[in-house]
Amino acid sequence: MTIPWYHKTTIYQIYPRSFMDANGDGVGDLRGIIQKLDYLKDIGFEAIWVSPFFASPQRDFGYDVSDYLSTAPEFGTMEDALQLIEETHRRGMKIVFDLVLNHTSDQHPWFLESRSSRHNPKANWYLWRSPSLPLGEGLGVRVKPNNWQSMTGGSGWHYAGERGQYYWASFLPFQPDLNWRNSEVKKTMFDIARFWLAKGVDGYRLDIFNTIYKNEEFRDNPFAFKLAPTPNDPSGFLQKAKYSQDQPESFDLAREFRKLTDEFGKILTVGEVAAAREVVRTYAGEETNDGLTLVFDFEMLQFKFTAEYFRALIEDIDRHFSPPFMPVYVFSNLDKRRSIHRLRDDIRKAKLLAMLQFTVRGVPCTYYGEELGMTNLDLPFKNALDPIPHKYTFAPRLFFDLMDVTVNRDEVRTPMQWDESRNAGFSVAEKTWLPVHPNYPTVNAKRENADETSLLNTFKRLLKFRRENITMQEGLLELLNGLPKNVLGFIRKTASEERIVLMNFDERENEFPLDSSECVFKLSGNEELDQKAVRLNGFGGMIVK
Ligand code: NOJ
Repeated sequence: MTIPWYHKTTIYQIYPRSFMDANGDGVGDLRGIIQKLDYLKDIGFEAIWVSPFFASPQRDFGYDVSDYLSTAPEFGTMEDALQLIEETHRRGMKIVFDLVLNHTSDQHPWFLESRSSRHNPKANWYLWRSPSLPLGEGLGVRVKPNNWQSMTGGSGWHYAGERGQYYWASFLPFQPDLNWRNSEVKKTMFDIARFWLAKGVDGYRLDIFNTIYKNEEFRDNPFAFKLAPTPNDPSGFLQKAKYSQDQPESFDLAREFRKLTDEFGKILTVGEVAAAREVVRTYAGEETNDGLTLVFDFEMLQFKFTAEYFRALIEDIDRHFSPPFMPVYVFSNLDKRRSIHRLRDDIRKAKLLAMLQFTVRGVPCTYYGEELGMTNLDLPFKNALDPIPHKYTFAPRLFFDLMDVTVNRDEVRTPMQWDESRNAGFSVAEKTWLPVHPNYPTVNAKRENADETSLLNTFKRLLKFRRENITMQEGLLELLNGLPKNVLGFIRKTASEERIVLMNFDERENEFPLDSSECVFKLSGNEELDQKAVRLNGFGGMIVK
């Protein structure tokens, strides 16, 4: 059985506003991405995922779309988008767009029409409900249709006087949810998906896929003793998201969407689903992988840097995503603190984490700048461009830190650090849309490129090893037993070959017996292998035959 490309690729996530600014307005753009494709090719990534760049009022920086079939002027033109596809392909790479099926911007013409009256051709395109106490209106009392909380906290019901009704928004108030039970909506969204696939796009990352369908009767969610949603449990704000997320129709949609993408050949789909692992898996299919080709598993965004943690994680993930399924390994993204934050800025640990991500059985997904060890920038909530922190200016920052919740997403979206020149080489503008992290003179691509031992060059070596060893892409995984406590080891094997991956999560060196004769990869260069034993230096790693 051959494994399809989307189950063995390596993905790099680009946040277009922050990647490269080609026209000097302080905001990254599509031409900027084109300029930097060679950089990505040189690191060795095989696919790029580009966050939304479609027409949008940019209140959630592109995740609030006002026209799915045109580009936002600050990002470029339709021609730039088509050229980006072409230039990516010319380098033998794949390109994945980001599709927001759940909601549009409240400035989308569909919504403007929908909210204008209860009787218009788009009246039923969004989720409209009357106040649940109709008689209360006369007395000035308006009661929301049900108790559902939005994903960002607070009721997701918002009143529109024009209709005397509420609309539902799973995320922020200016992102009204589409009514997927309306066949016209579904057809229109499917046509949009087809539009870009016909233009040559190789796949989609599907934004909050698990919220697309809601309970048809809008039943109240039950109480749950949980303050905030966590990466693998959408319940929070004191309720279980029983009727507002992960409805059976969303699992069906995964299969239907797969049929659509199958019309275009081998297309990658990766669902954004913040839910328990069993639920995450269900979006990929029950028995066979007839749903989304991949689904993010976000538990690991809150990883603990120990061999024990990763052993348990890999074991459980591999069990849930055994063939024909394939897991995704992702340690940071546009919404959560950067991985180096959990590693206390220790580059040795970042290298070991990269080794794990590129050698384990799964598709790795890297957020821009992670290859350099870019760090979060502490920014005050009150000046945030991200709308979410403005909901929480009353609460002390420490509270969220203790809960391990990222509120101000600006902190992880600062401009890419290319070199030591002004604005880190990201833009020639006077002012960039978000400030550049002041550590750019030391943390930047140019400098790390020239340093053989850098994190960037470690990424390159690991990706090269993965590309050149089919076992690392396709092989099954078996965890090794009997290793020292802080050492994690697993075998990747195909019918014809085996590779043994060994990683030392300890600051101190670890030596242990191993019957192997040939070392094929050393993480730091200081690891040693003789006929009967391996010695791994602190945070060292080795791959043997
Ligand atoms: C998830 C995206 O990752 C996030 O950045 C966005 O704000 C929400 N979905 C809403 O679309």
